[in-house]
Amino acid sequence: MLKDSDAPQDSAVNVKQLLDLTGRVAIVTGGSIGLGRQMAEGLAEMGANLVLCARKAERAHQAARELQQLGVKAISLACDVKDQTSVQEVVDATFSQFGRIDILINNAGISWGAPVEEMRLEDWNKVIETNLTGTFLCAQAAGKVMMRQGRGKIINIASVAGLGGAPPELPAIGYHASKGGVISFTKDLACKWAVHNIQVNAIAPGWFPTHMSNRVLERYKELFLSHIPLRRFGNEHDLKGAAVFLASDASNYVTGHVLVVDGGQSAW
Ligand SMILES: NC(=O)c1ccc[n+]([C@@H]2O[C@H](COP(=O)([O-])OP(=O)(O)OC[C@H]3O[C@@H](n4cnc5c(N)ncnc54)[C@H](OP(=O)(O)O)[C@@H]3O)[C@@H](O)[C@H]2O)c1
Repeated sequence: MLKDSDAPQDSAVNVKQLLDLTGRVAIVTGGSIGLGRQMAEGLAEMGANLVLCARKAERAHQAARELQQLGVKAISLACDVKDQTSVQEVVDATFSQFGRIDILINNAGISWGAPVEEMRLEDWNKVIETNLTGTFLCAQAAGKVMMRQGRGKIINIASVAGLGGAPPELPAIGYHASKGGVISFTKDLACKWAVHNIQVNAIAPGWFPTHMSNRVLERYKELFLSHIPLRRFGNEHDLKGAAVFLASDASNYVTGHVLVVDGGQSAW
């Protein structure tokens, strides 16, 4: 249990205090590797305690061990965001360990590549259930705790893929549909839960090299780079600021927003 003195203070006035996350408690789904790991690190660098969850417990455990080196509390839990019972267990374990939940980053996600006419229903369902239903289940379970607290921050990781279509060489219609759904979900939930002082926002990353994207980035590197005004892919720090901003009191008047972090790709 955290002490009352760790509780977020509303009296913060300068911008360093507004961005400070000392003592806050954040759940990061899919926090074991990739973008989830990067955002978890950013929150920890600003002082937040972390609960990292993913299906492969050992990778999440390893990430938690590494992030503890930053001087925060970090635990890992095995979780499948498609499974309501598993999600509730993470929320219950977080509450019993830390006494509250300040921040939820719905980052766990997968993709499946197949032309539309060949996409199997089971593969479509896997993507929708992980990316969209998983986001709903986690928001619902953690949101009930946030409502009781009278405050909370939910950050849904969408994608620039949720803003539009892609050429046939990039066949991932379930992924696009799920991320478009995450964006609409974010806006509607922001309207619904503003009354509880819960800010709900999304981040829409462009291309970042990770386990999920590496293969396609290697294949289409030059083509993709030619569509990115900053002429590079996202790096291991480029998402931290966006995540910290939306997790902190600096964004208390921002809700229902989609923060695009894509090197200008969607600005062409
Ligand atoms: N990389 C990009 O270019 C890019 C661009 C835009 C948006 N995004 C989004 O950013 C998020 C992270 O992507 P990434 O590139 O970092 O992918 P990644 O490296 O493949 O990491 C995905 C993470 O999600 C976890 N995960 C997957 N399915 C899960 C489930 N059912 N339950 C719990 N955890 C699950 C994975 O752990 P386990 O396998 O152990 O479960 C892993 O920790 C995704 O939502 C993705 O759509 C990525």
